[in-house]
Amino acid sequence: MSSPISHHNPNDGESPAPSEEATADQKAQMEQAYAQMRRKLRMTRLAEDIDHKIMVLSGKGGVGKSTVATGLALSLARQGKKVGILDIDITGPNIPKMLGIEDTELHVEDSQIHPADGPNGLKVMSMAFLLEDPDKPVIWRGPIKLGAIQQFIGDVAWGKLDALVIDFPPGTSDEPLTVAQSLPNIDGMVIVTTPQDVALLDSRKSINFSKTVKIPVLGVVENMSGYTIRGNAEPNSQISVMGPQGVPVEATTNEDGEWTVTLDLFKKGGGQSAAEEFEVPFLGSLPFDPGIVRGGDDGVHRIVAEPEGQTAKAFDTVVANLMAQLAKGEDDAPEIL
Ligand SMILES: Nc1ncnc2c1ncn2[C@@H]1O[C@H](COP(=O)(O)OP(=O)(O)OP(=O)(O)O)[C@@H](O)[C@H]1O
Ligand SMILES: [Mg+2]
Repeated sequence: MSSPISHHNPNDGESPAPSEEATADQKAQMEQAYAQMRRKLRMTRLAEDIDHKIMVLSGKGGVGKSTVATGLALSLARQGKKVGILDIDITGPNIPKMLGIEDTELHVEDSQIHPADGPNGLKVMSMAFLLEDPDKPVIWRGPIKLGAIQQFIGDVAWGKLDALVIDFPPGTSDEPLTVAQSLPNIDGMVIVTTPQDVALLDSRKSINFSKTVKIPVLGVVENMSGYTIRGNAEPNSQISVMGPQGVPVEATTNEDGEWTVTLDLFKKGGGQSAAEEFEVPFLGSLPFDPGIVRGGDDGVHRIVAEPEGQTAKAFDTVVANLMAQLAKGEDDAPEIL
């Protein structure tokens, strides 16, 4: 068996050379330390190069966080802003699929990953691009997951951005905590909820989380808020539509006989009352829109498919309110958004 001890002659007056194993170990440690330092530097550069960093959270799963995060990013981007979206859901990343760019091959240069190009000039980064088999579940143990997230944030070459929207898996566990602690100068969090009480209750956790990590809540967005139906009847007449739980909803037709009714599928105003209760801003409501589900499956977001539609307009309103909150947060810095 070969000895790990150096074969250097101990009598030649020089100190013995370290063993090959020790050298390799030290080299690996040095490389690791270097990589960590580079990542930290990049993280600081990232914080400087990106004017606004916005986390999108929800207490509960399936409330439309990824749909809303993507919509906010697309809405900002179509106003001419340079925008990135970071899908930090490392176990079930789905934003590339929502944007129809899941087959993109990422370009790596200088050990930095260049984000993919999405619609409206959006820059997109997601673990989905790095997974060999999107159907295979990824299981990360705690510390490895944290390291992966840090690496994931620090190794992306975003360039200069007006805003970076960060989408998370549901809840307030490792992922948002790691980002909150690793990425400097985060502007705040957008909390997505649906109108039901149970979803609102879960939002409370997100609000408490914001206090723990000392990152402000920019506002609450109520998603799947109401479902609008339209029809035709006699001009200037009164019509009645059967609403949820058999409660009739009345409407008046216009001179062309068109009528519009918005049905509250769950409840109404829950997001607004939650915002009031938690004393955080209310950014607006987004309608329940079956086109969002189709768009998610087809990889064409509703905002891209129908830029002048009701949903796109609702997103624009939410973004206008969000921009007002961001501007408030910039005390003496010039207003960029
Ligand atoms: N406003 C809406 N109208 C109709 N369907 C919607 C709306 N918002 C989201 N959806 C649909 O609800 C489902 C869940 O949405 P999404 O994936 O965005 O939720 P999520 O909160 O990110 O979920 P997860 O907790 O798994 O990350 C999707 O099928 C999406 O198309
Ligand atoms: Mg999601």
